Amino acid sequence: MPGRVWTYQKTTEKYNLKLSNRVSARLADHQIRIAIGAVSLNYRDLIALKNKAGRNVDGRVPASDGAGRIVEVGSAVRQWKVGDRVAGCFFQSWQSGRFEMRHHKQDLGGTIDGMLADEVILDENGVITVPSFMTDHQASTLPCAALTAWYSLVVRGNLAYGSTVLVLGTGGVSVFALQVAHAHGAKVFVTSSSDSKLIRAERLGAWQTVNYRSNADWDKAVLKATDQMGVDHVIETGGPGTLEKSMNCVAAGGQIAQIGVLTGFGPPTTSLFPLVARNVRLDGIYVGHREAFIAMNQFFEQKKIQPVIDRVFSFDDAPAAFDYLESGQHFGKVVISNEGNNMS
Ligand SMILES: NC(=O)c1ccc[n+]([C@@H]2O[C@H](COP(=O)([O-])OP(=O)(O)OC[C@H]3O[C@@H](n4cnc5c(N)ncnc54)[C@H](OP(=O)(O)O)[C@@H]3O)[C@@H](O)[C@H]2O)c1
Repeated sequence: MPGRVWTYQKTTEKYNLKLSNRVSARLADHQIRIAIGAVSLNYRDLIALKNKAGRNVDGRVPASDGAGRIVEVGSAVRQWKVGDRVAGCFFQSWQSGRFEMRHHKQDLGGTIDGMLADEVILDENGVITVPSFMTDHQASTLPCAALTAWYSLVVRGNLAYGSTVLVLGTGGVSVFALQVAHAHGAKVFVTSSSDSKLIRAERLGAWQTVNYRSNADWDKAVLKATDQMGVDHVIETGGPGTLEKSMNCVAAGGQIAQIGVLTGFGPPTTSLFPLVARNVRLDGIYVGHREAFIAMNQFFEQKKIQPVIDRVFSFDDAPAAFDYLESGQHFGKVVISNEGNNMS
């Protein structure tokens, strides 16, 4: 049966999105077919669409993050059955352990086709079970943003009860970091360009907040809140334009999870020596592995952590969802609903 699929189409400088139909392929022995119920967008999908990193995605199906239900399994598949509800893993090949560069050839919606389709075929080890209480909309938000926050704080950061965490902005990764940290009993400092978003962050448990647009010295506000000690963990989604201030307000012996490029791909604006002077760990983070995804979902199941969805677009309206993400109006996640398939 043909199913709908969005693909990137190259124009002179960037990409457009094209909707078409594709015929279902046959499954290999270890593959599964998933009817996609919902897809969520990440800033990375905008980087691809706008060609900000010069990556060739011509003809590629966008989006790493999707959830749905298995509708067919290959002849050798034993761990899944028809009807199981799953989400895809960002890096299909990164099962556990240290990152290896070969995994970059297995990233959904980047080097290989992603989830923005009626159905996708993945390897049986490239998916995980979603938390049972979540709708497809909610489960679709987990593979990149939530796992990045979890992997930064819990796996690499050994997040402890009572520690302090700084999250920059209120996009997908940052709001999940706030929820994960709060659920671990950490005190979370949130920055945003919007006072109304800061009120929403407080409702989710933020300990203190500052508007980084009206208060350019947000690093000083963080220091003041921590009696000049600084925070134990920084969720650094900004990149070169914010690293200097993050270094100013991280605690001695703390961790900066270097995640994002919201201020660009250029070099940092300052010396990196404060990292040395303060004995700070700068952790390069690229999402996380399947084993961590499974552990995170168990935690979310236990704590009933509800992903924060700002707005849901219909499948046919996918380009509008990208535009909305680019506008920066969202708090948390932007979702594309595959109405025919989803369970929500
Ligand atoms: N390394 C990884 O594994 C990984 C995984 C996921 C994402 N990322 C990267 O992490 C970043 C965030 O991704 P996302 O998907 O969460 O993005 P997103 O949902 O699009 O978040 C955008 C939000 O970031 C905030 N922001 C923008 N510029 C900022 C600045 N200069 N200082 C502080 N906050 C700023 C704004 O929040 P306010 O509106 O509240 O101001 C904006 O709404 C991106 O660069 C993305 O590429 C990396």
